[in-house]
Amino acid sequence: MLTNTRQAYGWLTIALHWLAAAAVIAMLYTGFNADWAADRETQRALMRVHIATGASVFLVLMLRVVADYLQPRPVGPEQPKPLMLLASLVHHALLIGILVQIVSGPLAVFSGGRAIDVFGAFSIPSPMARNEGLHEAAELAHAIGRWTIIGALVLHLLGVAKHVIVDRDGVMRRMLIAGKTL
Ligand code: HEM
Ligand code: HEM
Repeated sequence: MLTNTRQAYGWLTIALHWLAAAAVIAMLYTGFNADWAADRETQRALMRVHIATGASVFLVLMLRVVADYLQPRPVGPEQPKPLMLLASLVHHALLIGILVQIVSGPLAVFSGGRAIDVFGAFSIPSPMARNEGLHEAAELAHAIGRWTIIGALVLHLLGVAKHVIVDRDGVMRRMLIAGKTL
């Protein structure tokens, strides 16, 4: 039960779902933590933490998105059409949002002519010269991606709560145990 079927999630998806969920929450926390810092100096230091955390979780997030689109997607429980559509839209928004963030984040650093320093352990040099236009485009994409994730995540969690509390249909259980069907 490593990969998905049309009825159930496999362990690969389940492991990546929860690892990526923790990573996304860590990225939102470290990103806003830096943005809300009191002065420029603290802001720079906290942004270095966000960037180093991003580099550390990059592969998990990339794998999450790629593995998802390469596998069959278990069909959802029977629901009114608009809800089925919303659930599917929210899932794609989360995955595309992650992809936008892990591309635009490093691009914002590199196009600023800076290297990505990973907690002082190692450093990834910028493959390009400073490029103001690209830098601004990357920052804009990073802002759009962040709000896409936040909006979709709120809907995602409301959806999960509905399935757990109101419908009690096993949707949560199948994201916890591989091979479980609805
Ligand atoms: C932390 C609380 C979270 C809970 C309780 C939760 C719960 C769930 C559950 C129960 C499903 C299964 C839905 C189904 O059976 O169709 C699911 C699917 C999904 N979740 Fe979450 N989730 C959480 C966080 C996240 C986060 C942070 C992301 C990404 C930003 C995310 C992305 C997805 C995606 C894309 C799916 C669709 C299934 C797939 O394509 O692999 N979830 N989630
Ligand atoms: C799911 C992944 C990610 C999320 C949710 C996320 C979220 C955020 C947030 C909330 C901010 C603060 C917003 C602000 O300054 O107004 C931010 C800024 C930033 N992030 Fe990320 N980030 C992610 C991935 C990454 C990665 C992988 C890198 C680089 C390795 C990165 C680099 C940056 C940089 C350089 C900034 C400051 C410039 C800007 O606002 O665009 N981010 N991110």
